[in-house]
Amino acid sequence: QSGKLWGGRFVGAVDPIMEKFNASITYDRQLWEVDIQGSKAYSRGLEKAGLLTTAEMDQILHGLDKVAEEWAQGTFKLNPNDEDIHTANERRLKELIGETAGKLHTGRSRNDQVVTDLRLWMRQTCSTLSNLLWELIRTMVDRAEAECDVLFPGYTHLQRAQPIRWSHWILSHAVALTRDSERLLEVRKRIDVLPLGRWAIPYAPAQPCFLPPPELSFRAITLNSMDATSERDFVAEFLFWASLCMTHLSRMAEDLILYGTKEFSFVCHLHLSLPASVLMPQKKNPDSLELIRSKAGRVFGRCAGLLMTLKGLPSTYNKDLQEDKEAVFEVSDTMSAVLQVATGVISTLQIHRENMGQALSPDMLATDLAYYLVRKGMPFRQAHEASGKAVFMAETKGVALNQLSLQELQTISPLFLSDVNRVWDYRHSVEQYGALGGTARSSIDWQICQVRALLRAQ
Ligand code: ARG
Repeated sequence: QSGKLWGGRFVGAVDPIMEKFNASITYDRQLWEVDIQGSKAYSRGLEKAGLLTTAEMDQILHGLDKVAEEWAQGTFKLNPNDEDIHTANERRLKELIGETAGKLHTGRSRNDQVVTDLRLWMRQTCSTLSNLLWELIRTMVDRAEAECDVLFPGYTHLQRAQPIRWSHWILSHAVALTRDSERLLEVRKRIDVLPLGRWAIPYAPAQPCFLPPPELSFRAITLNSMDATSERDFVAEFLFWASLCMTHLSRMAEDLILYGTKEFSFVCHLHLSLPASVLMPQKKNPDSLELIRSKAGRVFGRCAGLLMTLKGLPSTYNKDLQEDKEAVFEVSDTMSAVLQVATGVISTLQIHRENMGQALSPDMLATDLAYYLVRKGMPFRQAHEASGKAVFMAETKGVALNQLSLQELQTISPLFLSDVNRVWDYRHSVEQYGALGGTARSSIDWQICQVRALLRAQ
């Protein structure tokens, strides 16, 4: 019994548990390329500002190229005490070129370096995700165009409401995704701001004329050095963008899961579905869609988590901010996978047109019956009431709405004439909704045209 609770390895300069706790190299190593890109640009900036000679700059640039080569070829050897990608690269540079390496950090701290790296990395990721998002939207629009003549029930409150085109449903989700695409562009705009050379608090004293390196081609530079190193608005915005996009994808997945049940039997999911349930061979589970739905939870969690981390932080850099990267990496990977799986689901989905058609019933035309009377001059409120009476009459007689005779309908209103028969045609029904955004062929064509125009503008 030593009587020491806090003995041995917990005391002294190097506590292995703390070292591991503190390190971010296990995940921030994927910033190696942007870290070197940033350092190369920074050394050119230092040379222009007269803080490096041309020879020193060349030495640094050459050394950095070598470090990059090692990363690219997988030969970069991490030391146990490399805390993060920035210290690892700097340590290696010093091994390769000697003391000149120390000059690279003039007027720069890891606080502005890390945020520059992250912005560079995210700028690239936004472009990749934007392409994947458009690929999905394109697949949806192609489908909407190809299957424009398929009708099925439109639901509100999950109750059959009115006949609509299947394309109308597809486009409703595609249009939501176009907003996500637009939003991503906005987020990218605020990512695209350069904080490099903002140091920890003030600008470095030795660099009053340091100019942002043009080769990183940022849209703008940060306005305040204290803000530059401490704000992670662009990370929060990115995580929120992903959260909202996942909300849309999760809702679409939920619709498709429902439509794929035996009860609906509108669609059949082929994408990546395993042969069948192990226990119950008759079942085919929509694994891909359920996973899309579930990943939304993970992404929301990351967004909420980062906001919690940011809230209450004192000014400038605090180590808490190191937590931003895992959120960004995980969410980027998740979004990339989800968008590709969703594209796979949509492109391989099979639809059962007959089941969709059979799910339509005359009661879904009660609104159309009201509009029939409106066209004959009856005020809408009155027409709505008359249609309600017809529904009630059919129910009490135990017949479908379209089986009421003309005489029976005329007891409700004398405006009913033999042309009321047209109301019971589903194709005629959808064609009435020709306003922009509606379900008539012309409205669907217009929507497809609008989304395609956005696609072309990419
Ligand atoms: N690994 C750190 C991060 O990810 C880099 C910045 C460290 N700066 C500091 N002053 N300790 O945020």
